[in-house]
Amino acid sequence: MKLCSLRICIALLSLSSATVTRLSSQQTAASAVPDDAPYKNTSLPVDQRVADLLRRMTLEEKATMLAGSAWMESAPIPRLSIPAIKMADGPMGVRSWLGSSAITNAANTPKITSTSFPSGVAMAATWNPELVQREGQAIAQETKALGRDMILGPTVNINRVPLWGRNFEGYGEDPFLSARLGVAYIKGVQAEGVIPSVKHFAANNEEFERHRLDEKIDERALHEIYLPAFKAAVQEADVWTVMSAYQKVNGKYCAENPYLLTDILKKEFGFKNFVVSDWASTYSTAPTVNAGMDLEMPGGPPLHAMLTRPQSIMSGNSGGWLEADKVLAEVKADHITEATINDNVSRILRVIMLSGLMEHAHNPGGEVDTPERQKIALEGAIEGIVLLKNQNALLPLDPAKIHSIAVIGPNALVARTGGGGSSLVRPDHAASPLEGITKRAGSAIQVTSALGVGMEGEDATHDTAEARANDLKQATDIASKADVAIVVVGRYNKNESEGFDVKTMDLPAGQDELIQAVEKANPRTVVVLNTGDPVTMRKWLDSTPALVDMWYGGQEGGNALAAILFGDANPSGKLPVSLPKKFEDSPAAKTYPGQNLHTEYAEGIYVGYRYYDTKNVEPEFPFGFGLSYTQFEYSDLKLARIEFAGKNPTWQFAVKVRNTGQRAGAEVVQLYVHDGHSKIDRPVHELKAFHRIELNPGESKTVEFTLNNSAFQYWNPSTKQWTLDPGTFEIQIGASSRDIRLKAPVQIKR
Ligand code: BGC
Repeated sequence: MKLCSLRICIALLSLSSATVTRLSSQQTAASAVPDDAPYKNTSLPVDQRVADLLRRMTLEEKATMLAGSAWMESAPIPRLSIPAIKMADGPMGVRSWLGSSAITNAANTPKITSTSFPSGVAMAATWNPELVQREGQAIAQETKALGRDMILGPTVNINRVPLWGRNFEGYGEDPFLSARLGVAYIKGVQAEGVIPSVKHFAANNEEFERHRLDEKIDERALHEIYLPAFKAAVQEADVWTVMSAYQKVNGKYCAENPYLLTDILKKEFGFKNFVVSDWASTYSTAPTVNAGMDLEMPGGPPLHAMLTRPQSIMSGNSGGWLEADKVLAEVKADHITEATINDNVSRILRVIMLSGLMEHAHNPGGEVDTPERQKIALEGAIEGIVLLKNQNALLPLDPAKIHSIAVIGPNALVARTGGGGSSLVRPDHAASPLEGITKRAGSAIQVTSALGVGMEGEDATHDTAEARANDLKQATDIASKADVAIVVVGRYNKNESEGFDVKTMDLPAGQDELIQAVEKANPRTVVVLNTGDPVTMRKWLDSTPALVDMWYGGQEGGNALAAILFGDANPSGKLPVSLPKKFEDSPAAKTYPGQNLHTEYAEGIYVGYRYYDTKNVEPEFPFGFGLSYTQFEYSDLKLARIEFAGKNPTWQFAVKVRNTGQRAGAEVVQLYVHDGHSKIDRPVHELKAFHRIELNPGESKTVEFTLNNSAFQYWNPSTKQWTLDPGTFEIQIGASSRDIRLKAPVQIKR
């Protein structure tokens, strides 16, 4: 637990003075504001307050609000007491807002620490929206404690390609799961009066050339796969901001894409709040404003400094296009109307009012990293761990029988809390697997450890042939003497990160060979994956008795792993992504990363299990899969009732689940819909509902699922509408997409 007084000065320092100076000449032109101006009256409806405030602003003041004033701050208008919105990166905790990674990682910059929560894909593996909502709320509380108003998350982009550098950040490959978790996170954040930013709109699925890449995506794939989580964020959580993506979709940058920002987001979804650009991703003034961009970020001197850095030039960053002088020149030239600017500014003001910022600044103070938030981080890390293989019940480890454990691997001795880039949070302390295991093992069990192999690019002294042989020998020596060996392998924030894609699905640094050697030295070997992207496992999986996926588990990752290994917690995580056997098996392999900066989403809607299950390509581990230390039996699937909300029916399905094993545990019961009759090609099934339930040994529960029309619809490209072809659908209840336990037909008339 720690107080954040240092952060007060940092917050004040980062406030830009540029905007204040720019405005001084206009203040005289504007009339004085009475104390009882309607916009200050919180009992009036927000839209009325916004209209009143807007009416009092000069065109220059309004134009000023379209661009950021600093790296993480919007422009304030002090004359009208409009505050700057102070932002910080998320989504896995509150990251330093002092500049880009290049700056915050520099040796002499102040360290801003906060609770590091598990990565998005780990939280997705919990399939627990209630927990994700608590996580969102906890992160929002820390955001406020650090004096910030807005947290840049959640990331709801779909994990389309196994090599995407940001797979660890997203909620997996399924739009329904992503939507449920995105909505939960947003609700948690907004409940605290903190502004979230659901990102990156839309289809940000490659880091490769992310500032130049043009993605050709058909409308059906957009609507069925890439947009649902954003739509749910708008329509179910009334999300306060949406961040546009870097790349182009169908020929136009997302930041100046009228189809995405206006036609879909604002008109089709009914989004009333504001769009913020991703950092340094604008390329024009009038086309960007007219397309529906409301706020360009970042701005001021930090933006200009960034744009001159060779790295930014090389990667294609661009910005500063919505600065007031440029916008005003376009208004003068009749390329932008004042009505458009009024709309932009109204949206920003609306969010400032909805979040209560107009009345109360989030002053720095309060605590971060409290025991309560550590507990949420630990719960997330535990529930997100997926047990993939457990031959002869090697796990859980029985402390009564085990006297020695060898903990091995480049990810065993260090806590790898998250992937690299803007989401990487700096915790005060993070538990490595070795630390978690040693603590849990206690004095009765001897724990030895060895690096095994140096992580790629981390320490050159481990890269010589002699050092490698030595590291490997130490690992096999301790493995051969221990009752059980635990090898923690994966990647880290330098080779799995925002900004570039992972080069190959193979584990880096000879970790495959490390696993093989350790397994030879000790057949009782548990392999632990500590990475966000899938990895190939062919070289060792058949001879590996136990396999655990801990993803990047945040600061509590090591403790969570120990709880699972020793059976203090029963694994309940389920894969939110399919793990293919090899990259070539994955649906986008043929078109990734594209040619000449163009890539075609040729697989259309066949992403993840929609592809593997429909085209009969067997993945190593399927979507929704995860073992437990107990077993669950499913029975009695039935259509319990049909209800009507007005004219719209909802279908309630019930299924009985029983814990038939010896331990308490949680099961994620999944409902898929199969449509065998529609006029259009459809995947063999799609996830439409799920519940995570906890059961004591011998206990049964009836799980109820509610489906509405949308569960049976597809996006019809010819009518450009969601369509339901009446007929018989099949409800499938499963423990994974490939472990369907029960099926029942249902007649849907409309
Ligand atoms: C990332 C965003 C992030 C922003 C601000 C961008 O590079 O794509 O996710 O919020 O930087 O750090």
